[in-house]
Amino acid sequence: MVLRPLLLGLALQALVALAQPPDETDYTPIVVPLAVRSPYVGAYLTGRQDKNLALMDPHFWTTTPLGWKGLLRVDGEVWNWMGNLTDWPAAVNSSFTHKTAESIFTLTNDPPTVALTASFLSPITPADLFRQSLPFSYLRLSVESLDGKHHQVEAYSEVNGLWLADDETEEMEWESKEEKEWTGLRYRLENQRLFEEEQITEGWTADRILHGDMWYAAQTGSSSPVKTTFSAGDDAISTRHSFASTGTLGNTLNSTFRPTRTRASSNLSQVLDEPVFAFSHSFGTVSPSSSISSRSALLAIGHVRDPVVEYMTAGEVVAPLRPLWRSTFSSTESLLSFFFRDYADVLKLSDEFNAKLYADAREVDGQEYGHVVAVSTRQIFMALEAVWDESEEGRDGRTGLMTYSPITGLPVPTMMMLKEVSSNGNANTLDVIAPFLPFMLYATPSLLPLLLEPTLRYSATGLYAPIPPPHDIGDHYPSAIGHNDFLYPGLPLEEAANCLCLALAGMRVADPRPYSSIFQGARTWLDEKRGSERIGWRAIVGKGKDHRREGARMAKAQAKERYALLKSWANYLEQEALYPGTQSSTDDFFGPAPNQTSLVIKGIMGLRSMSEIAADLGETADRDHYRAAADRFVQTFLKLAVADDGSHLLSSYGNQSSWLTHYNLYYDKLLGTEQFPDSVYAMQDAFYPTIAEPYGPPLDSRFPQRAKTDWLLWAAGASSPGSSARRLLVDAVARYFRADKNAVFGDAITPQEGWSVGFLSRPVAGGHYSLLGLHVMAQERKRRLEAAQEWISEELFWAAIGVGAVLAGLVAGRAWRRARNGKRGYVELLAGRVGFRGRRRSAVGGEETIWLAETPESGSLFELGEEGEYDDDEGEGNEPKRQRGSFAED
Ligand SMILES: *[C@@H]1O[C@H](CO)[C@@H](O)[C@H](O)[C@H]1NC(C)=O
Ligand SMILES: *[C@@H]1O[C@H](CO)[C@@H](O)[C@H](O)[C@H]1NC(C)=O
Ligand SMILES: *[C@@H]1O[C@H](CO)[C@@H](O)[C@H](O)[C@H]1NC(C)=O
Ligand SMILES: *[C@@H]1O[C@H](CO)[C@@H](O)[C@H](O)[C@H]1NC(C)=O
Ligand SMILES: *[C@@H]1O[C@H](CO)[C@@H](O)[C@H](O)[C@H]1NC(C)=O
Ligand SMILES: *[C@@H]1O[C@H](CO)[C@@H](O)[C@H](O)[C@H]1NC(C)=O
Repeated sequence: MVLRPLLLGLALQALVALAQPPDETDYTPIVVPLAVRSPYVGAYLTGRQDKNLALMDPHFWTTTPLGWKGLLRVDGEVWNWMGNLTDWPAAVNSSFTHKTAESIFTLTNDPPTVALTASFLSPITPADLFRQSLPFSYLRLSVESLDGKHHQVEAYSEVNGLWLADDETEEMEWESKEEKEWTGLRYRLENQRLFEEEQITEGWTADRILHGDMWYAAQTGSSSPVKTTFSAGDDAISTRHSFASTGTLGNTLNSTFRPTRTRASSNLSQVLDEPVFAFSHSFGTVSPSSSISSRSALLAIGHVRDPVVEYMTAGEVVAPLRPLWRSTFSSTESLLSFFFRDYADVLKLSDEFNAKLYADAREVDGQEYGHVVAVSTRQIFMALEAVWDESEEGRDGRTGLMTYSPITGLPVPTMMMLKEVSSNGNANTLDVIAPFLPFMLYATPSLLPLLLEPTLRYSATGLYAPIPPPHDIGDHYPSAIGHNDFLYPGLPLEEAANCLCLALAGMRVADPRPYSSIFQGARTWLDEKRGSERIGWRAIVGKGKDHRREGARMAKAQAKERYALLKSWANYLEQEALYPGTQSSTDDFFGPAPNQTSLVIKGIMGLRSMSEIAADLGETADRDHYRAAADRFVQTFLKLAVADDGSHLLSSYGNQSSWLTHYNLYYDKLLGTEQFPDSVYAMQDAFYPTIAEPYGPPLDSRFPQRAKTDWLLWAAGASSPGSSARRLLVDAVARYFRADKNAVFGDAITPQEGWSVGFLSRPVAGGHYSLLGLHVMAQERKRRLEAAQEWISEELFWAAIGVGAVLAGLVAGRAWRRARNGKRGYVELLAGRVGFRGRRRSAVGGEETIWLAETPESGSLFELGEEGEYDDDEGEGNEPKRQRGSFAED
């Protein structure tokens, strides 16, 4: 009952979103994501040209090759639809569609009689972090007759050992699994090395994990008209040719285990042997009237490890952490069964997110901005792995950090781990988490506390010596073994301030109270009606919980539990942030420098955030103390950081030739704190156009050859809506995404030319959600303000409900008695002015009720005499008395 208004609101919202389908045509991103799911499943098309799937080979996000190839057989003729297999003609690409979660290619033979649609879906279900963290991705193949005729059609696809490691000489082993609903091919390195990544040379990693199983699986089932066959472990050339000649595979398992590739010793470019893992789907005769299920096949690809991460806990105990899905599924097999069954649901959820995202992006900026955020989304989750928190802390649920099982709807204690993809592989780097804060606020507020918890918990063990939070909790993922007794902290101002701003944003993203009452249900319904919560992804998790409120609840509980820690970091800021020593920040590309103004801004925002956290937790002394510190710092900052000619903020105190794209000011706008005066924003708005290059203003005057896409859009978020500064900043990033000359997509770019220069496929792309995050937080502030200003408080509401209930009870009681009496043949007359309950017993001053009885047969009326008196309030029990009354003829 409480939820109905909410669900109704959501349903309406979904309808509105679906009524305006996004225009996804005419958009081909720099890199096309194919299977992007975890740090070790990241397959992209990274070539420069036209993203023609037939001519291109999918690559790992590092740009090293993977083997993922496909053939299409139409009436015995074979075409290559993926991976540039030049033994056969390339299928013709006829269309490409990019969605937030899905890349869809359509290819045909030539001349076109049959089309193959290959849909690569890496689901985006950000409210449902349990589903989001399943380590598999889908490939759906469907074929269609284009010329109205019947065709015999088969489709083939294969993967190889390069999904496990770059090193081709690694020995592999494999097996096939034929389950009721699917067939799976599992392969792994023979030499399993737990928590270890592949080294290229000493100290350089290939970003491949030397532990775990690769799975390529196809949905089967006796009811399916599609006949699926497999081949595991035979050489690539012979496997492909066997399909090409027969259109089928022999369900063969070649158990002679071998390395990924064997090359001729005399000629290293000649591959002699390459075991592959392949499926073929025979669709039989495909005609225009064939049902979609009879001409579609569903595949799953993924990499599975258990445990996933090692983590430093109190008492210097290193604990292996298991993947979240293990809380619900006893084996990979049962997980895969669920994954296949879940396809339709998860596709729908992903499409809904896509529609809502484009609708919101259009509302806050425009269609092109929609493309920017859509293409930035899948890779955010590539950096993340969810773990099942089986520790005491997880079990006792003090902070209640959880996700919900989509099967049982029950909570599972959860933490989220992050790999600093591309830049250096650290675990849970705070300055990589912070940039994608806007995405979390828009799409998945619960992710924020789950992601901060490993750092907070590690810091609380006391094993890390310096006061400020650690930059990361492990030199190289998946080892999160901390930096015990480490004495030199990296980027301490940056991280301390980030942590405080993140903690506050998480608490303020929504009302932290669950929908516990009709009052809140009614309020929410009203909010929806007013349209005041339009921007932002809305969904229900668990049993009727709003995921946004869940996120805020967790963040608040977490801040409460870690209050002492947060406060110690704020104290550090108070000591250090006004005159930063020689420290690094996330905007320096060449080492630390003193007195960086971006660190001062961040430090001030950290102090202000501490004040606001204290306010929300009822710590009034701290609230006043940190607020005063932040205000004091701003005064000094304005004296030292503004250029002498008043044109812009310097990049370091006193250096008149320095400037910066001041992305940290975004925190002030995001949190609505108005900590810096309007004049600062107006000054920066006027300044950016004077330093802008075609792909935006450089980040820092010290290194004008660099910009960062995430910071460009944070700066856009700090600019005034409608200003030319905002326009140029958003357009710069949109232009970069259109620059198809790039082979890869990274967040570090040259602002002059728009080249990608490293930092590939990082989650910081979630920072592109800055404008959406801004709206989400502004809406929530408005809601709070309205709630506070409204004359009706919750107490008053309940009082009104109480009075209303009493009145309704009285009216209903009277109506019921009338009805009952009427039914039994009694008619109520009022003599004089009588209270509506007809209290005859207390009748004084001529106020009296007279009961008349009507005999059903004759229709004559009788008046009830004295003995018929009864007390209304006692009801039924009095009836006999009435019967005994003396009747008087009317
Ligand atoms: C496809 O393979 C051929 C032959 O190996 C090669 O010459 C060509 O460059 C490849 N095409 C692409 C787009 O990589
Ligand atoms: C292949 O598809 C892309 C994206 O739709 C398009 O730009 C390109 O022109 C197509 N190439 C061919 C050969 O049709
Ligand atoms: C398995 O593959 C190897 C390498 O291609 C080949 O030499 C061997 O004959 C195959 N075994 C079977 C039983 O086909
Ligand atoms: C080496 O192998 C490649 C690929 O099979 C072939 O094209 C090339 O001609 C070979 N070179 C020599 C010297 O045999
Ligand atoms: C930082 O700036 C302050 C104020 O201008 C100055 O006194 C101090 O010497 C500077 N610190 C460094 C290391 O340059
Ligand atoms: C002042 O800033 C400019 C531009 O960033 C830089 O090149 C120069 O080295 C700086 N001067 C000092 C003394 O740090």
